Amino acid sequence: MVETVRLNSSCAYRGARTCARIRQLTGLVLFLLCWPLPGITAGATPGAAAVATAHPLATAAARATLRAGGNAFDAAVSIAAALAVVEPASSGLGGGGFWLLHRARDGFEVMIDARERAPLAARADMYLDNDANPLPRLSLDGPLAAAIPGTPAALAHMARRYGRLPLSQTLAPAIRLARNGFVVTPRYRRLARLRLKALRASPAAAEVFLRDGVAPDEGFVVRQSDLAVVLERIVRQGRAGFYAGETAKELVGGVRAAGGIWRLEDLSAYHVVERAPVTGRYGRLRITSASLPSSGGIVLLQMLNILADYDLPSQPRTSRDHLLIESMRRSYRDRARFLGDSDFVSVDVRGLLSQEHAVQLRAGINPRAASTSDTLPGAVPSSRGTNTTHFSVIDRQGNRVAATLTVNYAFGSGFVPPGTGVLLNNEMDDFVLKPGVPNLYGLVGNEANAIAPGKRPLSSMTPTFLESPDAVVILGTPGGSRIITMVLLVTLEVARGRGGTQDWVALPRFHHQYLPDVVQFEPRAFHQAEIDALRRLGHRLKSRKRAYGNMQIVAWNKQTNRLDAASDPRGEGAVWIERRREAP
Ligand code: GLY
Repeated sequence: MVETVRLNSSCAYRGARTCARIRQLTGLVLFLLCWPLPGITAGATPGAAAVATAHPLATAAARATLRAGGNAFDAAVSIAAALAVVEPASSGLGGGGFWLLHRARDGFEVMIDARERAPLAARADMYLDNDANPLPRLSLDGPLAAAIPGTPAALAHMARRYGRLPLSQTLAPAIRLARNGFVVTPRYRRLARLRLKALRASPAAAEVFLRDGVAPDEGFVVRQSDLAVVLERIVRQGRAGFYAGETAKELVGGVRAAGGIWRLEDLSAYHVVERAPVTGRYGRLRITSASLPSSGGIVLLQMLNILADYDLPSQPRTSRDHLLIESMRRSYRDRARFLGDSDFVSVDVRGLLSQEHAVQLRAGINPRAASTSDTLPGAVPSSRGTNTTHFSVIDRQGNRVAATLTVNYAFGSGFVPPGTGVLLNNEMDDFVLKPGVPNLYGLVGNEANAIAPGKRPLSSMTPTFLESPDAVVILGTPGGSRIITMVLLVTLEVARGRGGTQDWVALPRFHHQYLPDVVQFEPRAFHQAEIDALRRLGHRLKSRKRAYGNMQIVAWNKQTNRLDAASDPRGEGAVWIERRREAP
């Protein structure tokens, strides 16, 4: 079902003077609001549900939960657990993530921070040799790469605090899928081949995710009976089913036997944190997005803040893209310089999102020539990863969830502690291993994101709500360091009132992240004439071999009360939009 959500907020539909006036009146200021935040749609309800996820079986799990009377939060639990089973390359019980929630009855908005934490025995130099050079692959492959998972705690927390249904119901689809198996897809096969070496090195991982030591053929059925047992323990015991008892012993025993540093107290001490999301405005749009320890919301709002003073719709394409690239360059530079886990380091979020800061950054932009990143103060770098997963949900009451979950690189660390079926993440690579040395995504940073015991690594995940008086858009995507610029490109289209969910997920993508000083772009993002024009402005451009990202969007047009959803054509996802006669 394709429906176009039209937002009547576009400057494109207004005269330039009116448009400028609106920008002036709104002040074009992106700012943090006090928490809890009153949403602007409290009271209105869509009367039907919609879901977009990266896998049809996860979408089916959500449908079953919503039809059984669950709310969006229950559906989110079902989706995350199902994805943990059927999309092991992207997320899972061994990983973590950020869940952005909007509760319809009172407009309460919160971000559940279920980011992984460094083990308590972690040290800042744990991936460096005697000469202080990074040891190759230690932060990527095997148990030493794994931080303490957050997703199981998030499932229990979501169910207890926000859901209506018991975990026995919301986790039932995932448990069934783990026992009965799921069919290997082309994407699974491609990613398993990519991570063959790491998966082979872990006998428990190879047994489940490979077949005779090689990536299974399409159509092969992957069954995960050990994982089903762990999910059943979570049903019976809540978080203790993972972080204590038999599961905890097996996880820690397996990690330590293979050279890792986890202890039982790492697991017992793990907790999710409810944090205020970051919020801001761009024209008539209110943006709600992930706060630290994700850089996503801050970098997104900073880019929008810089761009807010330009009348982008009236710019020729090359000028517009030039301004976008320059806003990306400057905001990713600030990411590298200042951002880290705010429970450990002091980050002046208000200052970074202030109008004064945007004015300063904008002042350095030459509309007719590219800046060079190495002449800007600070430090960072390209991106291989297109893993992680995102889903978007709205229910009949208007509760909504945007959640981006990850195990970091494809199949995480590739390591499964024997007997658990839990594929561990390699999120330790999201820390700065050494200032100035790029991680998997080519990102560098400084002390703010250095490793410390119990600290959460800086993320780029950007689950986001966009809201105008007329519409709500729920979005997010995987894609490592490129996540934030993908969300930016869609936000600008929504602000402009152009297209609908199908157009937004398909939008061609380009990205700049300060260092390396290069504009990465999808093969079809620019025509040759545009490439030439951007080069004449001084930009260095590099086409990526493959398209990237896997965006999942749900939109609700409050004026027409139409629901719409779209799954990225680059992925294998599926949407479900409830027909109103299905609703009781
Ligand atoms: N692991 C990718 C991210 O958190 O940004």
